[in-house]
Amino acid sequence: MMHEPQTLVPATETKMTARDVNVFYGDKQAIKGVSIDVDMDNVTAFIGPSGCGKSTFLRTLNRMNDTVASARVEGTITLDGENIYASSMDVVQLRARVGMVFQKPNPFPKSIYENIAYGPRIHGLASGKADLDIIVEKSLRRAGLWDEVKDRLHDSGTALSGGQQQRLCIGRAIAVEPEVILMDEPCSALDPIATAKIEELIHELRGRYAIVIVTHNMQQAARVSQRTAFFHLGELVEYGVTSDIFTNPRQERTKDYITGRYG
Ligand SMILES: Nc1ncnc2c1ncn2[C@@H]1O[C@H](COP(=O)(O)OP(=O)(O)OP(=O)(O)O)[C@@H](O)[C@H]1O
Ligand SMILES: [Mg+2]
Repeated sequence: MMHEPQTLVPATETKMTARDVNVFYGDKQAIKGVSIDVDMDNVTAFIGPSGCGKSTFLRTLNRMNDTVASARVEGTITLDGENIYASSMDVVQLRARVGMVFQKPNPFPKSIYENIAYGPRIHGLASGKADLDIIVEKSLRRAGLWDEVKDRLHDSGTALSGGQQQRLCIGRAIAVEPEVILMDEPCSALDPIATAKIEELIHELRGRYAIVIVTHNMQQAARVSQRTAFFHLGELVEYGVTSDIFTNPRQERTKDYITGRYG
C-alpha cells in the first residue's frame, strides 16, 4: 500500500512522483518514507535544517545517488509515469532529462561555448556546427548570460564571475533540453546581486521546466517557489503551497523551523 503525498496541494501537471522513498548510506537511514509530487508549473522548494536529507532526496530524482557506493534507494520514483529506477532506464538519458545544478558552480575547464555545446553534441542534438551555434546562443540567452558573454564565447568558462559561472551551469543543463532542473543551494556561494539574477532566472524558467530548488534561505524559498517541502530528520514533515507553509504551517515542527527556533 503506497502512501499519498503528506498534504494535498492543488494539482497541476504532475511531472515526477516519489512514493515511500527510503535512502540508506550503509545501514544509516537518511530518508524515511518520503512521498511527494513535483509538478510542471510550480517551482518546488526543499527546506529544512542541515543534515536532514534535502540533498540526498534531491539526488534520488535523477539517480545521482547511484554514484555513491554506500547509498541504497527504496521506493518508487517516476518521471512522466515511468519508473526511473527500472533496469530499462538509461541513466545518462535520465540525467539529461532531469538536469542538476550544484551549490558550487562547476563549469568544465573549457570555453564558454564548449561548456554549452558538450551535452548537445554527445546527445546528438545538433546536426552540424551552425545548428550547435544556435543551441549555444539559445541556451545562453535562456540562462540570462548571452549579452555578457557573446563577445568572448571562446574564453574559459572558469574565468567568469561566480554568478556568471552558475548561470553558465544552468545554461549547460538547459542545452540538452531537460524536462526537470534540480538545483541544490544554487546561490549559496553567490553575492546578493548574483543571487537576485538567479532568482529572476528561475522565475523566467518556471513553466518551461519543472524546477526543484534546495535552499537554506527561507526568504528565497518564499520568493522563488510556489510549493514548499519541509524536511526534518529524513522525513518530509509538511508539503504545501509556499504561502501556506510560511504563514500557516500545520505541523509544529514546521512552525518551529520557520520561526527560527532551530536549524
Ligand atoms: N555520501 C554520503 N555517505 C554517507 N552519509 C551521507 C552521505 N551524504 C550524506 N550523508 C548523510 O545523510 C544525511 C543527510 O545528508 P544530506 O546531505 O542529504 O543533508 P542536507 O539536508 O542536504 O544538509 P545540508 O543542508 O547541510 O546540505 C546526513 O546525516 C549525512 O551525514
Ligand atoms: Mg545539502
